[in-house]
Amino acid sequence: MALRNIVKYGDPVLRKKSRVVEKFDNKLSDLIEDMIQTMNNAEGVGLAAVQVGILKRVVIVDVGEGPIELVNPEIIEESKEKQITPEGCLSLPGQSGNTVRPMTVKVKAQDRNGKWYIHKGTGLKAKAFCHEIDHLDGILYIDKVIPDTEGKK
Ligand code: NI
Repeated sequence: MALRNIVKYGDPVLRKKSRVVEKFDNKLSDLIEDMIQTMNNAEGVGLAAVQVGILKRVVIVDVGEGPIELVNPEIIEESKEKQITPEGCLSLPGQSGNTVRPMTVKVKAQDRNGKWYIHKGTGLKAKAFCHEIDHLDGILYIDKVIPDTEGKK
């Protein structure tokens, strides 16, 4: 296992579309382990493979319940109810902005062995699923930031 460098905003790789994972081999497993270590070291709640420069559809989310690995993830259901909360990204350190995300989502994804699971997330976990899955299509949270309404009621 090894820490990997987190790609920072401005690097064009962050705008690229990641490829579907077809090989569930040791290389994938090593990537997932490195991503978990890198995310924990940076004290993040999620990391996409593109953020370590690998254009594969792999995402890690950990909101304090232990790491969830999502390979080829897809949002299959989202609540009508929304949440507006500050969002940040390890590729844009020190910044945040309010976004509108579904309060609850259901995600279909594989694990490192290729087995399919359904993951449900509410609140921070739903936001993290959405944020990380966006990364796989080159979308950053800053694309979705809404005007600051703080202080206005
Ligand atoms: Ni991010």
